[in-house]
Amino acid sequence: MEDTTIQPLLTPYKLGKFNLSHRIVLAPLTRQRSYNNVPQPHAILYYSQRASKGGLLLAEATGVSDTAQGYPDAPGIWTKEQVEAWKPIVDAVHAKGGIFFCQIWHVGRVSNTGLQPNGQAPISSTDKALTPQLRASEVDIADFSPPRRLRTDEIPQIVNDFRIAARNVMEAGFDGVEIHGAHGYLIEQFLKDQVNDRTDQYGGSLENRCRFALEIVEAVAKEIGADKVGIRLSPYTEFMESVDSDPQALGLYMVEALNKYGILYCHMVEPRIKIGMEVCESPQSLVPMRKAFNGSFIAAGGYGRDDGNDAVAENRADLVAYGRLFLANPDLPRRFELGAPLNKYDRSSFYTSDPVIGYTDYPFLEDNGNA
Ligand code: FNR
Repeated sequence: MEDTTIQPLLTPYKLGKFNLSHRIVLAPLTRQRSYNNVPQPHAILYYSQRASKGGLLLAEATGVSDTAQGYPDAPGIWTKEQVEAWKPIVDAVHAKGGIFFCQIWHVGRVSNTGLQPNGQAPISSTDKALTPQLRASEVDIADFSPPRRLRTDEIPQIVNDFRIAARNVMEAGFDGVEIHGAHGYLIEQFLKDQVNDRTDQYGGSLENRCRFALEIVEAVAKEIGADKVGIRLSPYTEFMESVDSDPQALGLYMVEALNKYGILYCHMVEPRIKIGMEVCESPQSLVPMRKAFNGSFIAAGGYGRDDGNDAVAENRADLVAYGRLFLANPDLPRRFELGAPLNKYDRSSFYTSDPVIGYTDYPFLEDNGNA
């Protein structure tokens, strides 16, 4: 017999001033098809395929400056050309009734001199290098170069880069900004005690390690309004050799500090995602952070339909973000609704540069008029 109960994931949710019609969020996904860091017209189709009326999409991590880049052909939002190139992509998502936030990042030491202006060293909280040819899950990045430790007096400029990028995000027409504070990139290089070895006011105590992230949150919130700001955090993830000795204390400190700024949401990656994207068992959970945070809470990492529904039903999250499943199933909400089979994702095309293969060619169900 057909089950007619409405799945929790398919119930509406009011995310601040945004009326979401369901709780299935497109997770930010680096796709490396923005040639020379400029978003391309093929992204119009890619994002609009995944847009639905009242559905929240998070754009792939987008560089805040010319030192922010660590992956070839990842998009940026620090030049006029990049802002203009985003506009038709945002318009296409809006035309389908979608709500679109842009994730902004700085990769810090997850880079190499070949991707930096004038061949300079990547910047970081530290001068400790990543293992030169770290193979992080399926992301096979070329050599990492030893980073240059930021001087204390240089930090306000990086905070300002995030602020200007956030302004540019709004100029491009997006509905808001997600600050990428996860996965071993620059913000996490400050947050985590096994990476941050600073002795100034940005290192040492929890308060000091969180200072950089919170200065960015404050600057971005002041610039565009806290009601349009989210942040992604992954205290438990050890991606890019980014480890903390007490992830729960870090997560709790951050969410409690974030409460002061009244931002829209906190997006957290499950402890079961340890390194790369692989799912492993974990006794820890995000519940303490979910409870301590006053805004909306998005959980991500290894979710399927059933455990996503459980997370919402049990109030462990307001929204659930899907990465690989949404990448491979542009009509994921519809498939969940129908309990339809899912396309399998093809890892080998996650980070290739073809504008079609593994990008816009995943098939839709036949019934939804979108194919
Ligand atoms: C990612 N992930 C990721 N995370 C992030 O915060 N910003 C990003 O740009 C990316 N890029 C990215 C690219 C690709 C191809 C993958 C597979 C993953 C992590 C992603 O958002 C998500 O957290 C993980 O994929 C785990 O969720 P799923 O895939 O199990 O739903």
